[in-house]
Amino acid sequence: MAARLFVLFAAIAAAMPSASMRERELKKRATTLIPDTCFSSQSTFESYFSYNYPWGDTHNGAALMKASQATIIHDAYLQLQSNYTGPQSGDSSLQYDSGTVYAKQHFTVEAGGGLDFQANFVAPVAEGCWPAFWLTAVEGWPPEIDLAEWKGTGKISFNTFNTSSEVAALDVTYPTPTTAWHTILVELRAGDDGSTVQAKFYMNGNLVTTQYGAKMVGAAFYLIIDYQMLGSSGSSGPTTTTYFDVQYLSVVSYNP
Ligand SMILES: *[C@@H]1O[C@H](CO)[C@@H](O)[C@H](O)[C@H]1NC(C)=O
Ligand SMILES: *[C@@H]1O[C@H](CO)[C@@H](O)[C@H](O)[C@H]1NC(C)=O
Repeated sequence: MAARLFVLFAAIAAAMPSASMRERELKKRATTLIPDTCFSSQSTFESYFSYNYPWGDTHNGAALMKASQATIIHDAYLQLQSNYTGPQSGDSSLQYDSGTVYAKQHFTVEAGGGLDFQANFVAPVAEGCWPAFWLTAVEGWPPEIDLAEWKGTGKISFNTFNTSSEVAALDVTYPTPTTAWHTILVELRAGDDGSTVQAKFYMNGNLVTTQYGAKMVGAAFYLIIDYQMLGSSGSSGPTTTTYFDVQYLSVVSYNP
């Protein structure tokens, strides 16, 4: 009996490739969409990224985004700088000049494929500071995946939106925010149903959480590196200049 059961399980195992075997096959198709040298000069950076949001220079917060607030430092990393301005004359809800950039490419998890997004961050976590590294749908909304977001509580958030109310959201402790680079890696993989995307979120090499997004296979995303202020991070913020730094960003595709 035991032997026959073993044969049965072995047959099932052979028919369904293991997750690690599948991952190994997928990795053979690795294609770099954005290389980790993308911040090696202002011109290299500008060949992969555009300034502000895809839709303009404001979004759900108190910062007006300007190209001059996004700079490559030491030919090594991207710095988004937020300057406090006080209520601005054109729109008093705007109180900061800050920086946001988005990738020129759109990113899609194709059926049977996947994408990896990785970067190192020094992200401010004080109240009123709202840095984010996120994917949002090119057509409509959601889908949205917050690859990493900091909402002024000292924590880091990882979120996947099926709808505005159906959201997988996790906040975890974010140690030494201002003094150390933290590496975030998010692996997106197409599910067998041809619709669901699995997102595995890693911080400094450790898997933190796995979330599942509905109707995300085949959906095109914008990638945004955003230093917004106030909004979801609280109603009072710094009156000094603060910075969001990003280094060694890469995007790799395993799509067929
Ligand atoms: C923003 O703040 C920095 C640091 O205080 C300062 O050097 C820079 O001139 C400010 N930028 C603007 C546009 O005022
Ligand atoms: C979102 O949809 C996926 C796919 O149907 C499901 O697995 C996941 O649990 C949903 N997320 C939430 C927060 O309900």
